[in-house]
Amino acid sequence: MKALVLAGGSGTRLRPITHTSAKQLVPVANKPVLFYGLEAIAEAGITDVGIIVGRTAPEIRAAVADGSALGLTVTYLPQEAPLGLAHAVLTAQDFLGDDDFVMYLGDNLILDGIAPLVDKFRTDRPDADILLTRVANPQAFGVAELDETGRVVGLAEKPTSPKSDLALVGVYLFTPAIHAAVRAITPSARGELEITDAIRWLIDHGFTVRPTTITGYWKDAGNVADMLEVNRWVLEQTKPAVHGTVHADCELTGPVRIEPGAEVRGSRIMGPAVIGAGTRIHRSRIGPFTSIADHVTVEDSDIEYSIVLAGSSITGVRHIEASLIGRNVKITPTAPRPTAAHRLILGDHSEVQIPS
Ligand code: TTP
Repeated sequence: MKALVLAGGSGTRLRPITHTSAKQLVPVANKPVLFYGLEAIAEAGITDVGIIVGRTAPEIRAAVADGSALGLTVTYLPQEAPLGLAHAVLTAQDFLGDDDFVMYLGDNLILDGIAPLVDKFRTDRPDADILLTRVANPQAFGVAELDETGRVVGLAEKPTSPKSDLALVGVYLFTPAIHAAVRAITPSARGELEITDAIRWLIDHGFTVRPTTITGYWKDAGNVADMLEVNRWVLEQTKPAVHGTVHADCELTGPVRIEPGAEVRGSRIMGPAVIGAGTRIHRSRIGPFTSIADHVTVEDSDIEYSIVLAGSSITGVRHIEASLIGRNVKITPTAPRPTAAHRLILGDHSEVQIPS
């Protein structure tokens, strides 16, 4: 069995971060979200992995390399443009050959992994197995309709009037039957070859599509709110460890991981939180639910429920929350005058909320 990991796409919902980097490499608890998926695949006993890449291919290749660090053998599969999940399968046809495969969306996270799901698929071998989970807002997802016997009878991509609250999780198990389906379908109204259309084609042509409803934690980290939620969930599993220097004038509460070379002085870190290698935290309050990446400086600031990427510096800013701060960002205060203007240099598609 092989794995097909999708790490291309446009990432419009995570702009401006995705203007300069791949969304699959945004760190969750200081590890790229993509790596959780790759680890889950390795844990399921699959080593032969094809990774679909788009315009961020160089960055993905630099991060994952040949996959050997994760116990995988990785083949990169360039997709000409983000033309849909089914188009990614079409792109991977030669790599997949006649093998069964698990398709894993590179920005998705399933906290319990996929090993039992893969084992069950290997044993029963339906033509396809789709994972479903109940959600509050099915309009935002691919949605499955089941009949009273639990068979899949309908599938719709982001429907305005969903027939159920069962959303498709970004992990699919396929036999080679899917190849005829992705070749047969045509682009949807949004111009993509939809995997939901391909699966519906399987159903319409008498193939067995088994639904498996999962109850464990799953999230598609495609937008900032979900990315912060995923970060919160993963941080909750953090094992406390101090590898850096924490001076005696600091207070650490809850699970806090401090990476090697980090220095914390005159600060309070409320776990769950991680502080990256070489990062300096001075006279600040961090957490809970906050990941600060490597080589960041935080001074005289408060930050909670946020992700800060590598190389950024935050000085003299009280109360930052629910924020995703990119790489090498600089945040400083203006002179403390009540009428001081906000001075902003923001990239395209940035979002800032300022008290008025
Ligand atoms: P999506 O999040 O559905 O699509 P997107 O990355 O284009 O994002 P947005 O909606 O914000 O513009 O894609 C799910 C995963 O699949 C993600 O890791 C990107 C990847 N993908 C591909 O590799 N090729 C594709 O053609 C598409 C549509 C997605």
